[in-house]
Amino acid sequence: MYQRPEVCVTTVTLPAGPSAPRFAQGIMTLAAPLWVMRRMRRRYGSAFTLNVPVFGRAVVISDPAEVKQLFTTSPEIADNLDINLGRILGPHSFFAISGDTHKQQRKLLVPPFHGRRLRAYSGIVEEEATREMATWPQGREFAALPSMMRITLNVILRAVFGADGSELAELRVLLPRMVTLGSRLATTPVPRIDLGRWSPWGRAFAYRREYDAIVDRLIAAARQDPDLDARNDVLALMLQSRYDDGSAMSRDEIADQLLTLLAAGHETTATTLAWAVERLRRHPEILRRLTGEVDEGGARLREATILEIQRTRPVIDGTARQVRAANMNLGRWTLPKGQIVMVSIYLMHNDETLFPGARRFDPDRFLDSKPDTYEWIPFGGGVRRCIGAAFANMEMNVVLRTLLRDFILEPTSERGERWHSRGIAYCPAKGGIAVVHRRPARQPTAGQGTDATQTKAGAAA
Ligand code: HEM
Repeated sequence: MYQRPEVCVTTVTLPAGPSAPRFAQGIMTLAAPLWVMRRMRRRYGSAFTLNVPVFGRAVVISDPAEVKQLFTTSPEIADNLDINLGRILGPHSFFAISGDTHKQQRKLLVPPFHGRRLRAYSGIVEEEATREMATWPQGREFAALPSMMRITLNVILRAVFGADGSELAELRVLLPRMVTLGSRLATTPVPRIDLGRWSPWGRAFAYRREYDAIVDRLIAAARQDPDLDARNDVLALMLQSRYDDGSAMSRDEIADQLLTLLAAGHETTATTLAWAVERLRRHPEILRRLTGEVDEGGARLREATILEIQRTRPVIDGTARQVRAANMNLGRWTLPKGQIVMVSIYLMHNDETLFPGARRFDPDRFLDSKPDTYEWIPFGGGVRRCIGAAFANMEMNVVLRTLLRDFILEPTSERGERWHSRGIAYCPAKGGIAVVHRRPARQPTAGQGTDATQTKAGAAA
């Protein structure tokens, strides 16, 4: 007898959202993204469906249990968003790979960003911070952001690319141009016809050729370096690392991943540091305690302050995944294949039930307890959590320590700077205006000037 095959029909259930035309929702979200998020949250609660520019219809979530479920689900069910960053950063970039390939790359590239490696990099950070801060004017206003950008760029070029001499000089000029153009082009289609060297895509390809030539020189020099084993830079570690089957990373994988580390790590860290200047000038009591702590060789309050800066001013306001399975049950919802889910870092960090007095800047909230992994999420979470989180926290810690040790940062009663989107990251609208005075030279106290002051909690964050 003929039997009907089992047909499994799953009903899709999405959170409610505004009924305004898609176009209007997109324009509003483009013009005032944070305001729209706050408004949607007030109206619909912690989950809503919204049309966002570029991605289209997205489910936005900010409930810790749902966020935890999304972050910890297997990549076969939900993985990174395929927005084709491969065109910009290369097909081997973390942002372009998924599944097993992604897992294997993480296995090779997580170790260079942890443990004793970080201690080795902290010397570079202190050197770069001291050098840059020596150029700061005293007693008059300047924007901290350009300075922070130079520090974090040089740190990545030296600690990650292992660049030195002419390569360092060339990359210092080329890479900021390349990343700025790349972030603008990330969402524009590649034209079918070649519009030549002076078109934006033509320029992007020319930059990439220049970049490839420099990376080839760096790789060739590293391969001939008799002391390669003793080097700590990430490029040297990449060249020596092996997959489970004993094979090495290919030249193209190395080139794409180096570029990815720079694109992901340079501006994010610099903008957070600019917010540090902006926040601390408006909280003189915290500033006073931080300076006292630096003088005594401590680090606990500084680490708590960095956590609180990232909570109140997360430079990346959200991250996203895309459903890869036929459907996914996420908390209260059943999502169809292809559905984009955005985690709003911004909304979660402003949730009063998670952080009482959420709008207050209060580093003391993290003095004795580490934040929860799925509530404090400036670095995202799960298998896609930022690979450079510990590196970034070490870097911010050392830059801030150098600033507080060598300068008095003048407090201000001016209103806080507004959030300004730079495309990749949010920065203070005026660049984090600073006014500094050099402190008289002091004898370092025991433990000061080394990273021994970084506590386990700070390093783990
Ligand atoms: C304050 C500084 C930083 C912030 C706020 C930040 C934030 C983030 C966020 C939100 C993600 C997405 C995570 C997810 O989707 O769950 C991410 C991914 C990533 N970040 Fe960072 N990041 C910072 C610094 C760095 C640094 C210094 C590096 C490297 C030198 C780096 C390298 C990466 C890479 C490679 C990924 C992709 C990981 C993957 O897909 O497996 N980031 N970061």
